[in-house]
Amino acid sequence: MAGIFDGKVAIVTGAGSGIGQACAIAYAREGARVVVSDIQEDSGQQTVRMISDSGGESFFFKADVSISKEVREMIKAAVEKYDRLDLACNNAGIGGPSAPTGEYPEDGWNKVIAINLTGVWLCMRYEIPEMLRTGGGAIINMASILGRVGFVGSPAYVAAKHGVLGLTKAAAIEYATRNIRINAVCPGFIYTPLLEKAGMARGTELYSTISNMHPVKRMGTSEEVASAVIWLSSPQASFVTGESLLVDGGYTAQ
Ligand code: NAI
Repeated sequence: MAGIFDGKVAIVTGAGSGIGQACAIAYAREGARVVVSDIQEDSGQQTVRMISDSGGESFFFKADVSISKEVREMIKAAVEKYDRLDLACNNAGIGGPSAPTGEYPEDGWNKVIAINLTGVWLCMRYEIPEMLRTGGGAIINMASILGRVGFVGSPAYVAAKHGVLGLTKAAAIEYATRNIRINAVCPGFIYTPLLEKAGMARGTELYSTISNMHPVKRMGTSEEVASAVIWLSSPQASFVTGESLLVDGGYTAQ
């Protein structure tokens, strides 16, 4: 069966878990060859196995998005293997420490900004030249509802995600005439290991409190976010650039 991304090459960072894994699988299902990247080798290889079990093509490349040399090597490996790069989902991110601004640990601030904001820029820094070389592409940066609104106890995360939206708009207008569309997705709370690490595992009080903060009274799934990523990456969204698409069960509509 023909996929919308037949012949295309996609890269997904943070593809060993949660939203990134769902995006990598969804790109492959639509026919793209996928570069699965993560700092965690075991979980990245697991995503590669899931893709090959369903008949898709991918390979794993270990890279930390906050380290320039590793990002450069990741893009080089992608192009050496598949000759081109058409689609990128810059998804890798961490939650970081929880503390109010006046008590926030400086090392935690630096780490969150390095991965969640600088990491997105570094990926675009090396993806864009490759996309220009073959005539264009589509980039999706993973932001958050916390790129639109504040949240108590997560100043670095909120600042980084607001930064991702600014960066997305800046880059989108720079490359608009050169056939690279650059958009962001803003998920509400999505049930993934990131939330488990932040103490929101199923069955906890925090899990139901957070679920109830969404008008739909539940958290989202990684697959619901991947659907938005696929649409924004596809020719169906050919007039959409510099946009940030909320996938949040109504959270920010309140
Ligand atoms: P997750 O923790 O399940 O997966 C994140 C993946 O990124 C992991 O496989 C991890 O190894 C990888 N990673 C972490 N640091 C990295 C680095 N320096 N370089 C490369 N890979 C690295 O998290 P989840 O929930 O799937 O989050 C993915 C993205 O979605 C993040 O950017 C997050 O901020 C964003 N997001 C998540 C929401 C949620 O509620 N889960 C809501 C809104 C946005």
